[in-house]
Order: sequence, then structure tokens, then C-alpha cells
Amino acid sequence: MSQPDESTQAVEARAASYLLGTYAWTKFHPRDGRGAKLVDADGKVYWDLLAGIAVNALGYRHPRLVKALRAEATDLLHVSNLFYQAAQGELAERLVTLSGLSRAFFCNSGTEANEAAIKFARLATPGRSGLVALENSFHGRTAGAVSITGNAAYREPFLPLLPGVTFVAPNDVEALRAAVDGTTSAVFLEPIQGEGGIVPLSPEFLRAARDLCDATGAVLVFDEIQCGLGRTGHLFAFQATGVVPDVVTMAKPLGGGLPLGAVLTGPRMDGLVKPGHHGTTFGGNPVACRLGLAVLDELVEGGLVAKVAETGEWFGKKIAALKKRNKAVVDVRGAGLIRGIELDREAAPVQKRLLEKGFVVGTARKTVIRLLPPYVIPKAALSAFLTALEETLKEGAA
Ligand SMILES: Cc1ncc(COP(=O)(O)O)c(C=O)c1O
Repeated sequence: MSQPDESTQAVEARAASYLLGTYAWTKFHPRDGRGAKLVDADGKVYWDLLAGIAVNALGYRHPRLVKALRAEATDLLHVSNLFYQAAQGELAERLVTLSGLSRAFFCNSGTEANEAAIKFARLATPGRSGLVALENSFHGRTAGAVSITGNAAYREPFLPLLPGVTFVAPNDVEALRAAVDGTTSAVFLEPIQGEGGIVPLSPEFLRAARDLCDATGAVLVFDEIQCGLGRTGHLFAFQATGVVPDVVTMAKPLGGGLPLGAVLTGPRMDGLVKPGHHGTTFGGNPVACRLGLAVLDELVEGGLVAKVAETGEWFGKKIAALKKRNKAVVDVRGAGLIRGIELDREAAPVQKRLLEKGFVVGTARKTVIRLLPPYVIPKAALSAFLTALEETLKEGAA
């Protein structure tokens, strides 16, 4: 049985002895949290600007989530997908209404959502198997999703993967044009690349992708797993682009911290998916779906998406000003509360120093500080972070 007050050394030793080595753990032991604050095993308080990699959008111990979880605790914790359960349909109805798409399929994670999207696209494009994705994209770790992930290091140990995948440089319209043809089943795009270093795709590129898919019959899939559900200041990232995809995949914040992924399909997919084509034991778990409804209540009725838009715009100006006055900052990118600060040096030592100063941040590629804070983060915390970052850059952490 796990011991909540177990020493951090014992936790680390057990992980080192018994867990597979899939993660390069940081020496950080979050044990509690409130709002956008995390508390470690020694009681030290941190501002969280990573949110469990874009999962904890409502921060920690949000009253709406706690209430929903308490209400569910005495209900069925699992219902087979062979039977009806109310929460799944209610969440599907809300997502469909809010997105303007037609239907939802629920799974447990981002990679599963993309896996399902690859299969659904095949149903829409019989006889085709080509996939087009972007360099530096990230779509997940399962065999299909990693096949379309534009990072050779993640793919190469596992070759051969899905054949027929073409990678194109982000925002290179000509290259996209050359890649998409009558053999293409689907084009997968993150409207803002996350792992790839917070790289927004240009409106022209997204429009070209839509036009090419319309012309060739390929399915346009937007992976909004990291950038979606309010993070850009719009409920769906595509809503800011003027381009409507055929399929949207989502996960991370959807289940309020519990595993929940979704594939939203537009009219292009209507009637194609039949019983037996796809499925999952756990996907759309009733507790996760109830939390999903609570997340949407807070984002929409609670006005949290509007708050992201407002805070995000303010923060965007702050980081643009930082770039202007600090030559260690090479570029700043993103929207809302998905932001990348590209440095003239490796990001990992800066990240480590920031953690010591009480700020949890992420990195992307080698030189980008990646920020995905809970939507409830106060501006004062973001200002304090910028001050700490500037100090750290001055110290020459590298
Ligand atoms: C854009 C994007 N797609 C897919 C995934 C995979 O999601 P998961 O880790 O839930 O499988 C991620 C995870 O970081 C992601 O950022």
C-alpha cells in the first residue's frame, strides 16, 4: 500500500526499482495543490505553469470538480459500452453543440483519439492509406499515432510502423500541395504544435489544407489534444482559424484530470462508423464524463474561456516585451495560455533553476520554455514567473 507521507527517497527508490524506465523523472514530488499552486512533499509552494502538460486546466481542487467527483463516488464507477449510460450522451451532446460538428466517440487518451481518427478516416476513404503529417508534430505513442509523429527519435526504434506517411514542414504550403493527392486518406495537423515548440500554423496553411482535402477527398483532422478546450482563448482552436476540420481529436483537460479522450466527427463521417468497427472497454467512463461536463460548465457558463482570452492577451504582450528587452529570448510564440519562449540556450537548465525558484514550467525541443498553465492562474503569478525567468537568464543558467 502506498504511504502518503513516505519519504521522497523511498518513492524515488521504488520507482527506480520497479517502474519501467519510460520517463526521465525530475526530482519533484507534488503532493497537494490549490488553484494554480502546487505543494511539494516538503511543503514548498510552487506556481504551476505546466498543469500536468495541459491537463489541469481548472487547477487543483476546483470546487466544481470536487463536487462532481463526490456526487459520482457513490454511483457506478464503470458501465460497459455495450449498455447505455447517461453521462456519455450528455457530454457528446455538449461537445457537438459547442463545436458545430456532428458526433463524438470517447476513449481514454490523446493517442487513442488519434488512433481512432486514423481508422475512421480509412472508412471515409476506401482504398486509400496515405497519411500526411508535419515535421515536429506529436500525435502520441501508440503504433498508429507515433507513425504520424514527426520526430524520428520517437519512431525509429519501432520501425516498421504504418507505411505511406509523408511529413511536411509546418507552414510550407507548397510542400503540402505536393504531398496531398488522391492516395491521401487523412491530413493530421495540430493548429498550434505543442511538443514541436509551440508553433502556430498560419491561417494560409490551414486554409490550403482544407482546400486540398476538399479537392482530393482526404479527411482533415485537427489534433487539439494540447491546444484545444479553451487553451487558445477559444473553446476549440479551430474556431479561431476560420477553417472547419472533418475530425477533431481531444483529450488532456477533457476529463478534469481523469483519463478521457474524444474524437469529434463532422458531417463527412456521418453514417460511416458501424458497430464492430471500433471500441474500447473504458472509453467514456461515467465518472470521467461527469467531470468532462463540469469542465465544460466552468469553461463556458463559468466564463473561464473568456478569462483565458483576456489573461492570454495580456501575457502575450508581456512576453513580446520581454523578447524586445532581452536578447537571450530569441522568439515568443503561441496564443492564449499556450506559449513558447525560445531561448538562445538550452531550456532544461533554465527549467531546473525556475523549479528551484518555485515555478513549474515545461520545455519543448531543446531551447523552448513551454508554458501551459492552469486557466485559473492569476496575472500576478505570470508576472512573478517573468521576473524569475529574467533573473535566471541573467544568472546565465546553462
Ligand atoms: C498534440 C498531442 N497529440 C497527442 C498527444 C498524446 O496524448 P496522450 O499522451 O494522452 O496519449 C499529445 C500529448 O502530449 C499531444 O500533445
